[in-house]
Amino acid sequence: MPIAPGSTLGILGGGQLGRMTALAARTLGYKVHALDPDPDCPARSVLDRCIVASFDDVAQAAELASQCDVVTLEIEKVATDGLVAAARFAPVRPSADVLAMVQDRGVQKGWLSRNGFPVGPFREVATSEQLLEATRAMGGACFVKSCVGGYDGRGQLRLSGDARLDDGGGAGGTGGLEREAASLFASLGGQRCVVEQALDLEAELSVLVARSPSGKLAVYPPALNHHVDQILDWSLLPGPLSAAVTGQAVQIALDLAVGLRVEGLLVVELFLLKDGRLLINELAPRPHNSYHASEVACATSQFEQAVRAVCDLPLGSVEIVRPAAILNLLGDVWLDGAPPPFEAALEIPGVRLHLYGKRVARPGRKMGHLSATGRTPEEALVAAKLAMARLSAQAGLPLPGR
Ligand SMILES: Nc1ncnc2c1ncn2[C@@H]1O[C@H](COP(=O)(O)OP(=O)(O)OP(=O)(O)O)[C@@H](O)[C@H]1O
Ligand SMILES: [Mg+2]
Repeated sequence: MPIAPGSTLGILGGGQLGRMTALAARTLGYKVHALDPDPDCPARSVLDRCIVASFDDVAQAAELASQCDVVTLEIEKVATDGLVAAARFAPVRPSADVLAMVQDRGVQKGWLSRNGFPVGPFREVATSEQLLEATRAMGGACFVKSCVGGYDGRGQLRLSGDARLDDGGGAGGTGGLEREAASLFASLGGQRCVVEQALDLEAELSVLVARSPSGKLAVYPPALNHHVDQILDWSLLPGPLSAAVTGQAVQIALDLAVGLRVEGLLVVELFLLKDGRLLINELAPRPHNSYHASEVACATSQFEQAVRAVCDLPLGSVEIVRPAAILNLLGDVWLDGAPPPFEAALEIPGVRLHLYGKRVARPGRKMGHLSATGRTPEEALVAAKLAMARLSAQAGLPLPGR
């Protein structure tokens, strides 16, 4: 049975994804409650009720659900026990099972490879000795990522081929290497990690698929994503990709959504390698930064689609109405905490500003994004970069175009 407009949607997490989901839900006529540890979380000002509690507060997750008709999430670090407790009061979409698979990198990568999905070489490690052995086995540059808790490149380290722990030089013999591995392991919190071979990337893309509880599917065209320092910098929708790559990426996303029986959204981050192979980087069962352009490019934004999917309404059209680009606004653009001259950016035709209502700007923190539309995605990116140049000039930052 659809959960009709007028009902109440609960969101575990009140960050920017929760805020934009709440806004879309309100447009559709829903009331929105959310749970977040931060009393000033971005969603707060657009909620009917905000429960301030930690993401592992099982009792408060149940309390949220007790006042809602359906519960979803916007962040993976909520406790699966909280989802189980919430499910006693209202349907929880995605389910605790899907979250448990996705929220741990080691479990996720293991599941993907066991189920025949394409992933790059990786090893899960639980001690610094295993870490040392794994970096040796990778035989070159690699990424070491903690299994839980990382995002935007946090909780991970990139080891260059030269500095890798099996190079035998500079670290003072085997004892030195062991110490190096131990300190690396400790710097990631001394917890289970995944060691991945650093892949030779041609491009990065993502695919968003929505699946409703009654099994309806809607898949968006892939987005092309550009990262700087492991953080998403810009994204184009539709991604200018070959028909073959597009077809393959869409098929992977559909197979995953059906295989996992996801209820809500599933985003698949993919690597296109220089040798033409397409490998899965990671999954997210929620709205995603790389589909923010869907708000201006598509007939149905990812946020409205999330609401439609979890409420079992008909899914919206994924048609591209006009190509678009987004550029993330990080705290770096706030000079000494002062906001940049947004009016200068908004003068550029087709450019829009999306701010998340975060009070404190810190380097690397996602504060908002710029979006732009154009006749082509590339043209939209030029407009967004022009707008960004006007903002970053004030902060004395290098011009975009990296
Ligand atoms: N094995 C790899 N080979 C090459 N590049 C990689 C690899 N792993 C990660 N990267 C680079 O680092 C970026 C971030 O990695 P990943 O998606 O694992 O981290 P994250 O912290 O979950 O990021 P986000 O929260 O933005 O998705 C990737 O998009 C890619 O640019
Ligand atoms: Mg990622």
